[in-house]
Amino acid sequence: MRLAVMGAGAVGGSVVELAADYGHTVTAFSDSRSAAIDPDGLDTAAVLDRKATDGIVGDEAPEDALQAPYDVLVEATPTTLGDAEPGFGHLKTALQRDRHVVLANKGPVAERYADVRELEAESEGTVLFEATVGGAMPVLSTIDDFDPEHITAVRGVLNGTANFILSRMAAEGLGYEHVLAEAQDLGVAEADPTFDVDGTDAALKGVIVANVLADDGREYTLEDAEVEGIQDIAGSALELAQEEGRTIRLIAEVAEGEVRVGPRLVPENAPLAPSGTRNIVQLETEHAGRLNISGRGAGGPETASAVLADVGRLGQ
Ligand code: HSE
Repeated sequence: MRLAVMGAGAVGGSVVELAADYGHTVTAFSDSRSAAIDPDGLDTAAVLDRKATDGIVGDEAPEDALQAPYDVLVEATPTTLGDAEPGFGHLKTALQRDRHVVLANKGPVAERYADVRELEAESEGTVLFEATVGGAMPVLSTIDDFDPEHITAVRGVLNGTANFILSRMAAEGLGYEHVLAEAQDLGVAEADPTFDVDGTDAALKGVIVANVLADDGREYTLEDAEVEGIQDIAGSALELAQEEGRTIRLIAEVAEGEVRVGPRLVPENAPLAPSGTRNIVQLETEHAGRLNISGRGAGGPETASAVLADVGRLGQ
């Protein structure tokens, strides 16, 4: 497949780096301010080199990148709320040209799911978005394979940054601000970790799961989610929990048409209390009990691997 990659962050850069390994060619790469286009395929080493030194690749506008020859648009610009732009506009341009779209950007499917489905219905292209929930973990494809109708609830740890902070506070008896600063130093947390610690990122993932599970045409957005973050968790609360063999994790839950995210008490050493940045998702099924999916829920190569798995599905 020929890929147009929009977004030159950790995920977009990793897609460019790994594409050849999955048998694909990158024909356009944009940081959404400018783009490089080469119908014969880009020299990915040169692209990555230039990205590292300039932070910008090429001189063309993103709209021009979307006119380049490609089969799949990989949309990996930063997630934005509300109108989900510019990612939504990129998706629209690609679908109107009957191209497929693979999203790493959560905005379009968390904030404008009905619009995405409408555009997709009018296009020869398909939209896939495994990478938007749980990085490398095959969450959405498992839900799809299993059949959403027979899944009664989905819950889990869907934000690695918040999980790192809570697990380290519990293990080392450190305060929230101290561990947050440590997470930023280690590059675990983003420069602006607001959406990680206030629950927004986990809620967006919960909303995407809710949209995939909904079979009544209902559309979920962030406004439908009940969200509480971890900013006010005191070390003493974790100590108290530990005395009872429990701990606290930021849990997202989708059940009975509701999306809820907040700090919850969970048994220590249970699947719902992974350590570090690991994620876990539990699918409650109607006839087959509980399925656990755990692994690396974030990171450039991890999330890029989910993007490239979607590209592979489109090629089947
Ligand atoms: N920043 C997120 C996390 C990954 O820490 O899990 C992107 O959604």
